[in-house]
Amino acid sequence: MTPFKNICPAPILAPMNPHPPLAHRRILLIIAGSIAAYKSLDLIRRLREAGADVRCILTRGGAQFITPLSVAALSENHVYTDLFSLTDEQEMGHIRLARDCDLVLVAPASANLMARFAHGLADDLAATVLLATDKPVLLAPAMNPVMWQNQATQENLATLIRRGVKIITPESGDMACGETGAGRLPEIAEIVTRVIDFFTAHKPLTGKTALVTSGPTHEPLDPVRFLGNRSSGKQGHALAAELAKAGASVTLVSGPVSEAPPAGVSVISVETADQMLNACLTTLPADIAICAAAVADFRPEAATATKIKKNGDAALHLTLVPNPDILATLARHPQRPGLLIGFAAETNNHLENAHRKLAAKGCDWLLLNDVSGGKVFGKDTNRLTLFRQTPTGTSQTDIPPQSKIDLARHIVAAIIKEYATHDHPA
Ligand code: PMT
Repeated sequence: MTPFKNICPAPILAPMNPHPPLAHRRILLIIAGSIAAYKSLDLIRRLREAGADVRCILTRGGAQFITPLSVAALSENHVYTDLFSLTDEQEMGHIRLARDCDLVLVAPASANLMARFAHGLADDLAATVLLATDKPVLLAPAMNPVMWQNQATQENLATLIRRGVKIITPESGDMACGETGAGRLPEIAEIVTRVIDFFTAHKPLTGKTALVTSGPTHEPLDPVRFLGNRSSGKQGHALAAELAKAGASVTLVSGPVSEAPPAGVSVISVETADQMLNACLTTLPADIAICAAAVADFRPEAATATKIKKNGDAALHLTLVPNPDILATLARHPQRPGLLIGFAAETNNHLENAHRKLAAKGCDWLLLNDVSGGKVFGKDTNRLTLFRQTPTGTSQTDIPPQSKIDLARHIVAAIIKEYATHDHPA
């Protein structure tokens, strides 16, 4: 199957709302075979207007009603149609397609696709993705009223509901087939509202406050020079963004970076470790704190007021004094965050150093990354090992290599799970 990709030279839809309700939400829309499939074109437009990134699967039945070309043009994304397409599999394997989204929306969902989903079939791309996804699924069925009322469809529906699939119940009225009854796809505005409601309800960290440090610190030597490091803030900013998406009120204390401030996050920009510590302390109490910043351990004893001049070939000796340890200070603070998470950037003796740091810094969790050979600072991907203090010792979980955004999602999912199972007083 020929890939249809980025057909429109420029975005058709510029989001009007500066804070669209579905900003940064990734929706995988499955369009099945139903006369209502033509409405999914408008659905794509409305979801994108609400800020969502929409990726589509068009089933063979769906493609009888609308073309992949229109879907690609409106979504401005590749359209996936075939389970066995070599091109599609190379671009994005069907398993990744199933996982790389926040919600799978099936609209319209045909009786046939519902039946295959309920019975766990994997006989086309849509059914396979529904079987392989670990993301929430929202179905908007649309079919002839007799097909909808059929005991087979109703039993499939009951099975899917029992398994946690969410349903947008079809409306009653005159159908395109000339019959009247329940089975009509609800108005597109109603489907978009249900999607927004889903994300609003799906904010498990609502009511929690979070502090994240990110980026490097710059420790001035003179008016124009500083000691610093190569941290870009990608990891810390991604964590702040994911915590905010999960409903937390997030303050991001960031050193000098060129990363854009994440949506819905309050940012305090600082330069030095001292400033970062002071900014962090103003945010307490906090339920969650993640120290992802690469804070300079040392700073020049005193920054000179004027530019340091070269003195022939004479060497320049600097005296460095230790900076405050922000993570350790938070750990000992009377208003210690309920869940305190640190990072360990190591180039050697990784496991030994991580264990030592976890104990010395007094945090609850520690994320170890191997920064040898310039692997992590400034890069888009990373791999981490999560160490957790448990009542009986320390647990250790490897988080495989992936983008820093996906790592942030993984870590925030672990935090949500932690809150679902344990109490963490702020
Ligand atoms: O910003 P990126 O380019 O995306 O890169 C991400 C990262 C490599 C910066 C990030 O993944 C990371 O490892 N951050 C911690 C870097 C670091 O300073 O590690 P450390 O092992 O030196 O410090 C251990 C912990 O103590 C860290 O949580 C650090 O934030 C904290 N610390 C360190 C020194 C200090 N004075 N105060 C601190 O709070």
